[in-house]
Amino acid sequence: MINPLRGMKDLMFEESEKFNHIISTATAVSKKYGYNYIETPILEETALFKRSVGDSSDIVSKEMYQFIDKGENDVCMRPEGTAGVVRAFVSNKLDRQGGNFRFYYHGSMFRYERPQKGRLRSFHQFGCESFGEGSVYEDFMIISMMKDIFDTLNIGFVIKINSLGCTTCMPPYRTKLVSFLTNISGELCEDCNRRIDTNPIRVLDCKNTHCQSLLENSPKLIANLCDECDSDFEKLKSLLEGSNIAYEIDTNLVRGLDYYNKTAFEFVSNEIGSQSAIAGGGRYDKLVEYLDGRATPAVGFALGIERIMDLVHLPEQQRNGIYLCSMEEAGVDILCKLASKLRATDKVTVDYNTKGLKSHLKSADKAMAKAIYFIGGDELANGTIWVKDLENKEERVVSIDSL
Ligand code: HAM
Repeated sequence: MINPLRGMKDLMFEESEKFNHIISTATAVSKKYGYNYIETPILEETALFKRSVGDSSDIVSKEMYQFIDKGENDVCMRPEGTAGVVRAFVSNKLDRQGGNFRFYYHGSMFRYERPQKGRLRSFHQFGCESFGEGSVYEDFMIISMMKDIFDTLNIGFVIKINSLGCTTCMPPYRTKLVSFLTNISGELCEDCNRRIDTNPIRVLDCKNTHCQSLLENSPKLIANLCDECDSDFEKLKSLLEGSNIAYEIDTNLVRGLDYYNKTAFEFVSNEIGSQSAIAGGGRYDKLVEYLDGRATPAVGFALGIERIMDLVHLPEQQRNGIYLCSMEEAGVDILCKLASKLRATDKVTVDYNTKGLKSHLKSADKAMAKAIYFIGGDELANGTIWVKDLENKEERVVSIDSL
């Protein structure tokens, strides 16, 4: 027997219902905010992720599903959706048109991580990317949209925000941070020591509790922001407060992807264990340029569908569809023809098994049909069908021609 690969899973029955429910809810909300659907390839040039997510990130340095294809191209299965959408934005020359473009997407992402609860190697994201709007109002609007999605799904969350500054305030802050980290490097873990040289900001979200205690007195970026980043962050906070959207400031929230600047945020759940981030995102004003497009500010987010599946409850299942069945083969023939007419307005299933009414009623009930249409011996002789509404239990006999 061949099983799915480690960290990959099949979704069916209630799980696939939840999966669809999350996507359709998120789609409906993002359409209300003016987002349009975009579909990009799963396979992209490896260089795309190296240049966007960043060479020093865990995703690129350790977790890529990367290979050389038959044409000797270095390719990679997407570990996240933003890079592909930005690539599509530039490839389709939307960067030259000016104005705003807002896209939503969903699909499989691949990261060769150590699998555990809430952490898969093949997982799904729903994401939104907004191009052309540099105003912090758009950051606020995106966070509001995410809140609407989770509220509609009836899921509890905590919003964490931070600012990662810009090309003016980040470099001097990085210098300050490196000098602080170098002083305590003897006590920091091996990973942190490696990161002091490659990506010092990532030291701030080290999961090691000893490292975290040493970092308590580290310089904080939000205390070192330039005037513009500082006033944007203050504005974001006041917009959230004005809309009664509760948030926490997390100065260690640096995100695992290198393309962010200014606003960064995560939605966290306390109910799903250690992999608690159910969504994350932020502003990435330089990425379009890094990928050879015209400078275009951008902001976006993605939510992890599998993590949300652990939290979501499906709406109560309603009776739905018509169940056609008979005791006689000639009856099944009639019902097969009738089915295609009824499908114009209803979901229809035909049970080809010729069996008694009692047994058919049981099956129709199990299938949560809202009505059963049955042809027994009498009905066959009279050109009629016995119909029962399984919601209000009313029964009647109708002529086949009238249907
Ligand atoms: P990310 O934080 O890497 O951001 O992923 C977003 C969400 O995907 C996470 O919050 C989590 O719910 C889910 N996720 C990540 N890795 C896994 C995994 N191995 N198994 C299950 N779920 C996972 C991004 O990917 C950015 N592209 C988000 C973004 C969009 N930023 C701007 N625009």
